[in-house]
Amino acid sequence: MALYNDTVMDHFLNPHNVGEIENPDGKGIYGSPVCGDMMMVTLSVDENEVITDAKFKTYGCGSAIASSSMATDMIKGMKVEEALEVSNEKIVEELGGLPAIKIHCSVLAEHAIKNAIYDYAQTHGKTYAGLEGYVPNTDPDEDDEEEGFEEEQFSDEKK
Ligand code: FES
Repeated sequence: MALYNDTVMDHFLNPHNVGEIENPDGKGIYGSPVCGDMMMVTLSVDENEVITDAKFKTYGCGSAIASSSMATDMIKGMKVEEALEVSNEKIVEELGGLPAIKIHCSVLAEHAIKNAIYDYAQTHGKTYAGLEGYVPNTDPDEDDEEEGFEEEQFSDEKK
């Protein structure tokens, strides 16, 4: 049964932008209310508000890995306000589709990016129309979040 198309499989098996940027300009962590999986995104942003680098780490499933790989590729080189418009629908579109039960995995990527941008905006005194009224929805268990992202626990697939 072909659950995933070739683009999704390629990003899942050879994900781009895996890791964590040291001293990031923005960092976001998001836990999916659907499955409990976690995603962390770190960003480098230059003085022109262009995202020069983006990396992710996840406990998520194959679809989350593929979505984050694609989404971080998409936002690199974008202005911050453009990156705020990268919705999960756009990520799924770029991937050529995901199975319906896996759509929430792309939401994980969208929200982790948005949380990272929110962090960037907060720490750099910026405001963006796309963030008005935005309340970052992060992992409720804040204390465990750093510990939760130990390298050796980051296998490609946990399910
Ligand atoms: Fe949890 Fe895909 S991210 S099932």
